Amino acid sequence: MTQTHESDVTALRAAVEAARAAPSIHNTQPWRWQISDGRTLYLYADRSRQLEVEDPDSRLLTESCGAALHHARLALTVAGWQFDVRRLPDPAQPDLLATITVTARGEPDEHARVLLDTASRRHTDRRPITNRQVEQAALDAIVAAVTAEDTRLYILSGDQVVELAAAMAGADRTEVAEEAHRAEIGRWVGGERRDATGIPASAVPQQAPQTRVAGRYFGPPGTLPVDEGHDVAAVYGILHGDTDTPLAWLRAGEALSAGWLTAIAQGLSLLPISAVVEVLPARMALRRLLSGLGYPYLAVRIGYPDPNAPAPAATPRLTADEIIES
Ligand SMILES: Cc1cc2nc3c(=O)[nH]c(=O)nc-3n(C[C@H](O)[C@H](O)[C@H](O)COP(=O)(O)O)c2cc1C
Repeated sequence: MTQTHESDVTALRAAVEAARAAPSIHNTQPWRWQISDGRTLYLYADRSRQLEVEDPDSRLLTESCGAALHHARLALTVAGWQFDVRRLPDPAQPDLLATITVTARGEPDEHARVLLDTASRRHTDRRPITNRQVEQAALDAIVAAVTAEDTRLYILSGDQVVELAAAMAGADRTEVAEEAHRAEIGRWVGGERRDATGIPASAVPQQAPQTRVAGRYFGPPGTLPVDEGHDVAAVYGILHGDTDTPLAWLRAGEALSAGWLTAIAQGLSLLPISAVVEVLPARMALRRLLSGLGYPYLAVRIGYPDPNAPAPAATPRLTADEIIES
């Protein structure tokens, strides 16, 4: 296909619409998109929504944009488009994280449709999970989805979960001690979020859930009810890979999205745990945990949510017009 078609533009816009639902660090939605020459979608990092204190290296910003990229790819696949993806295509433009160029019509993909359907049901659930053991087949499906995105998921043994918990506690102490960090959290978390970014109080637990690995500091308690459950049945893992570069972080974000949507399709919930990669000593501890397997990108908790407890309310999103440049 060489010509510009109106339908290509419509498909690219629909892909951006789908990508709005992607998870992002503190719901910063640090992306902006451009549709150019009628068939190419450009994904840029939006530095105006970068966490300058918590994420000066852009690791989590890039992972978040990777999750959005995966959502956009999925939407195009579901709609039956074939396309080329180029990641970090121009060293002179580090904010240009990816381009997606539609090349031809293909067949709609049923597996992709099942995954995309889960995207609208996916919410970060910070409550404890139930005592039901994670089924091996479900875990295998998540690992496979992550691996297909050039990233790996290492599942921690019980002893290693204790080490992850120690790393998390250390990272949290370091971050909370820093006034600039507390101020940044205060800008992005809590309240009603009239500006369509950030984490509303309704998604923040009322009290600390009983978990083997403590949740991160989010400022004052939120309004999300938390029951007495303990996450003893949770599986903890580390997304990791061979390099510690922006390209690897972008791929890790795509892998996070693929693994998370697969988890939802399997009836599981997945919770990212990122403080442990934000603070250097904790990141080094995770690296040692991986004992030569690679660089850690993010820790995750996987488990079955309580089917009888209502899921947390959806977090807000910027409109497509706010994130698409003409
Ligand atoms: C790279 C990345 C890191 C995240 N780290 C954490 C975390 O450490 N703790 C947490 O509770 N949520 C974490 N989240 C989840 C975001 O807070 C969540 O995606 C965002 O608030 C949007 O809400 P939603 O996922 O319910 O749509 C992370 C998400 C991403 C993409």
